[in-house]
Amino acid sequence: MGSSSLLSAVARRLEGKVALITGGASGIGECTAKLFCKHGAKVLIADIQDELAHSVCKHIGPNSASFVRCDVTDESDVRNAVDTAITKYGKLDIMFNNAGIVELANLANIIDFDKADFEKVLDVNVMGSFLGTKHAARVMVPARRGSIINTASVSSITGGITPHAYTCSKHALVGLTRNTAVDLGRWGIRVNCVSPYIVPTPMSKGFYPVDKDGNAIDVYSNLKGAILKAEDVAEAVLYLGSDDSKYVSGHNLVVDGGYSIVNTGFSMFD
Ligand SMILES: NC(=O)c1ccc[n+]([C@@H]2O[C@H](COP(=O)([O-])OP(=O)(O)OC[C@H]3O[C@@H](n4cnc5c(N)ncnc54)[C@H](O)[C@@H]3O)[C@@H](O)[C@H]2O)c1
Repeated sequence: MGSSSLLSAVARRLEGKVALITGGASGIGECTAKLFCKHGAKVLIADIQDELAHSVCKHIGPNSASFVRCDVTDESDVRNAVDTAITKYGKLDIMFNNAGIVELANLANIIDFDKADFEKVLDVNVMGSFLGTKHAARVMVPARRGSIINTASVSSITGGITPHAYTCSKHALVGLTRNTAVDLGRWGIRVNCVSPYIVPTPMSKGFYPVDKDGNAIDVYSNLKGAILKAEDVAEAVLYLGSDDSKYVSGHNLVVDGGYSIVNTGFSMFD
């Protein structure tokens, strides 16, 4: 291999791979779709925001990205999304279960927390990933390969920074990741999750303080001089989706600038 082709092989880390990304019309999913395509993947975006998803596909280019309408809480939609990836691109290498919601209106204490609100968040965040994993496995097991990634959150390992249902759902995703990693590892399929800290996206808008450029003001991470962006999370997902992480499975990749490793009130390094 010549030096220029070696360089392009290194640069395009998903050449020939097919990925399905739920929640790919916006935020972290959109960013990941763009990065995956830049690295040579074909991407199918599955979302409930048709117009936004179409404009993301148009931006990326119709040869690399396409859209299928899919509500991740509906099993027939998820089945259809996976089958569409197979029909359109012939296989499925990467399943990114990323669609998620947070019921910001419900910051209630546990006594006032509405049961229907709780169920709605678990339905999208946990049931959606369960269904995505189940149907991805259906086509990955015969192929004896695949990488499944769930978007959890720093709320998967901490308490008290997001509403009850959201925190609960993200903890549950770590359990789902580990259990399915053991199950599907028998067929060479890896399952991991990524756990970002605050990322400025439509979801977090209005919840966390932002500066004049719309970036989250990172007051709690101990890593100074860096602000987390959706692009940084996409890079972590790229690692988990690519063969660079071929021996990594059942892992929760926390992308939080060290936020969760220290209680800043007790830090001896001021
Ligand atoms: N933004 C943050 O600070 C942050 C931090 C940690 C984790 N996360 C997680 O990242 C993931 C992506 O969130 P984001 O911040 O990019 O938000 P976002 O709102 O920009 O994107 C979420 C996408 O999911 C889609 N979606 C919602 N419900 C759906 C459903 N039922 N079926 C299909 N698609 C659905 C939305 O249409 C949207 O396109 C979520 O799982 C979220 O919990 C976000």
